[in-house]
Amino acid sequence: MNLPRIVGFSGSPRRPSKTRSLIEAVAAEVASHRQVRLDIFDLSDAGPGLGAALHRQDLTLPAARIIDAIEQADALIVGTPVYKGAYAGLFKHAFDLVDPRALVGKPVLLTATGGGPRHALVVEHALRPLFGFFEALAVPTAVYASDTDFVEGRLAEAGVRARVSTAAQQLAVLIGTEASKAETVSSLPSVNLQVVRRGAAR
Ligand SMILES: Cc1cc2nc3c(=O)[nH]c(=O)nc-3n(C[C@H](O)[C@H](O)[C@H](O)COP(=O)(O)O)c2cc1C
Repeated sequence: MNLPRIVGFSGSPRRPSKTRSLIEAVAAEVASHRQVRLDIFDLSDAGPGLGAALHRQDLTLPAARIIDAIEQADALIVGTPVYKGAYAGLFKHAFDLVDPRALVGKPVLLTATGGGPRHALVVEHALRPLFGFFEALAVPTAVYASDTDFVEGRLAEAGVRARVSTAAQQLAVLIGTEASKAETVSSLPSVNLQVVRRGAAR
């Protein structure tokens, strides 16, 4: 059977990693809703060849495999640790090497982890615009988790777990829909907007 392929990508250089653990929690939840093929990568999988590459053709094989997987996935679960109030530099660098047309209409679930709650909106202020650039189909509910939401490296906080469940359900629904097919999105009929004048008629 040809199962939809979900690719998780964590922008943390560390192992164990809370960001990866959050992505795994989301992926497990998506898998409870529908059958999928799942691959999760992080910066250690990419190796030093990711940061050293200025262009796609400079990538080492392990790093190139990850960028290829991101481009070819049916859906993505992305996550980054918050560094200085934004996404990690190498997380962004990975997407700098992704073809700008490769994610059009692709369902993407946005996640981030930080030391505390102060930068929770990084998912909205940094990640959502990045995937807006790609014209990806970002899932409405994004997930942020702080250090204290994890117990022994696993996501434990009930509120964040509930958000994971909501976001995963949204992703599961979007995978394989007409809206998620790139060619369909770019050929959607333009909406015929009717301008209604308010105030006194002339
Ligand atoms: C260089 C650096 C900068 C950081 N900056 C922030 C920050 O601005 N805000 C925040 O909430 N946490 C910050 N943190 C904490 C990490 O985002 C947090 O511990 C994260 O969950 C680590 O994820 P990981 O376990 O996947 O590596 C920073 C950590 C590092 C190493």
